[in-house]
Amino acid sequence: MEKIVALCKRRGFIFQSSEIYGGLNGFWDYGPLGCELKRNIKDAWWRDVVHRRDDVVGLEATIIMHPSIWKASGHVDSFTDPMVDCKACKKRFRADQIEPQSGLVFTYTGAISDNGNVDTTHVKAFVELGKPDKPRDNARAEKVARRYYEEKGIQNPKLVGGIEIGNGIEHVSNTTGFCPECGGQLTEPRAFNLMFKTFIGPVEDVSNVAYLRPETAQAIFAQFQNVLACARQKVPFGIAQIGKAFRNEINPRNFTFRSREFEQMELEFFIKPGTDAQWHEYWVKERMKWYESIGLPASKLKPYIYKKEELAHYASACVDVYFDFPFGSQELEGIAARGNFDLSQHQKHSGKSMEYFDDEKKEKYLPHVVEPSAGVDRIALALLCNAYYEEWAPTSESAGSAPIPAEHGKQAPAGFESRVVMRFAPRIAPVKVAVFPLLKNKPPLVEKAKEVFHLLRSQFVSFYDEAGAIGRRYRRQDEAGTPFCVTIDFDTLGEKGPELKDTVTLRDRDTLKQERIAIKDLPAKIAEAVK
Ligand code: GAP
Repeated sequence: MEKIVALCKRRGFIFQSSEIYGGLNGFWDYGPLGCELKRNIKDAWWRDVVHRRDDVVGLEATIIMHPSIWKASGHVDSFTDPMVDCKACKKRFRADQIEPQSGLVFTYTGAISDNGNVDTTHVKAFVELGKPDKPRDNARAEKVARRYYEEKGIQNPKLVGGIEIGNGIEHVSNTTGFCPECGGQLTEPRAFNLMFKTFIGPVEDVSNVAYLRPETAQAIFAQFQNVLACARQKVPFGIAQIGKAFRNEINPRNFTFRSREFEQMELEFFIKPGTDAQWHEYWVKERMKWYESIGLPASKLKPYIYKKEELAHYASACVDVYFDFPFGSQELEGIAARGNFDLSQHQKHSGKSMEYFDDEKKEKYLPHVVEPSAGVDRIALALLCNAYYEEWAPTSESAGSAPIPAEHGKQAPAGFESRVVMRFAPRIAPVKVAVFPLLKNKPPLVEKAKEVFHLLRSQFVSFYDEAGAIGRRYRRQDEAGTPFCVTIDFDTLGEKGPELKDTVTLRDRDTLKQERIAIKDLPAKIAEAVK
């Protein structure tokens, strides 16, 4: 993962938010390549889920909505994670994410400060066994306990208790009661609401509280009747939305995977009650296919089917789409059959009917819903992880040899050099084509290259580069994941005869094959690959 994080910064995919001020945990910025990648993901989703279907329309709602929406949806009362704090180092963790530990627990029954102040509260400290490079167990535990008493105002504390086995020391197995970082005792779990709060208007009191939306879905339910009235749709039909969501995650982690600000792509597909199972199965299949269409291989995608006892009380089915990240198999999207829970909650809390009138059957009902809900940032991270390859590429590409996978810890063989290549599917690659003049100090080459660049950039995200040796320019585009490089050379100018005039070399990022192609055929060739 470290290599991918480093490449993301080096090449301008992802930066830490507010880096010059030390960064902000759980917030990430997308650089020039990253924002193109994200845009391509969102465009691909919107095209496939909205534009290419007759039965889905779009919505773009505000991030801050009436707080009653979050009361009705259940987020105010139960959108919580269990949180624990370390009593010594004060770090905060999600209780359900603490890995069990086995070792020794020391109990201290108080401490006395230099100036005679006494604290008689009891505290425990944990030390893992079998770490011979660390100080002795009791010294490690004492350090943790002293920190606890210091935090409580006891200066230079002298400890009581925790001296010998059988007297304040016990062996424990698989405990989750201690800080995974320092071994300090954790508090009892408390429910922590993940919604970010703010205030509307100048007065900061409870009557003006509002929330940054923790999901985009609720706006779709709240606007169901308005969309229905104007969109000339009949159930079954869907409303889709892409937008920012905010969750005050206790432990943001795994790079952008769990962030505090992220983007969602959500579809609420409204259906007739009783058709839930068939539509749910339909959307699971559609969504799995979609991931393959953007270049994530089926071998790294897995559906996780919820067991009955894991489902929310109102849901009849849920499948998560998991992807094999370097840090384990993790969720990209959830596809849930949520019954009529959301519409009925909003009907109850707003007092407005959320019912649908079926013209043909002359009956009214509350539609049920199937909700495929995906995270843009997680998909971007999956694409970045999947695209990253280390290879040995021939030093002279025009010789026509293919690249070979690099072997860890070994030097490239003679005639080859190391390269990092991002093998994005052309459809999703941030830049589709780069254009180079062979030499930057030959004005006719530069002029022709700019002409080709302007031709291509009217149709594709293109990049012009004339700096450095051609091999270096190829390597830069490999790391950016650009599927095609076009080079303008002396043959293009007709110096070797009229038959090669106005032709260029088109280099394929993955095979390194170079073909000679007429400039006029370039747009169609690239369009075919990126469509
Ligand atoms: N409306 C349903 C809903 O929001 P969710 O499983 O909580 O369901 C849907 O979120 C998707 O949003 C997840 O599958 C994930 O891709 C993305 N997501 C959720 N929390 C996230 C976070 N903290 N950071 C990045 N993406 C997140």
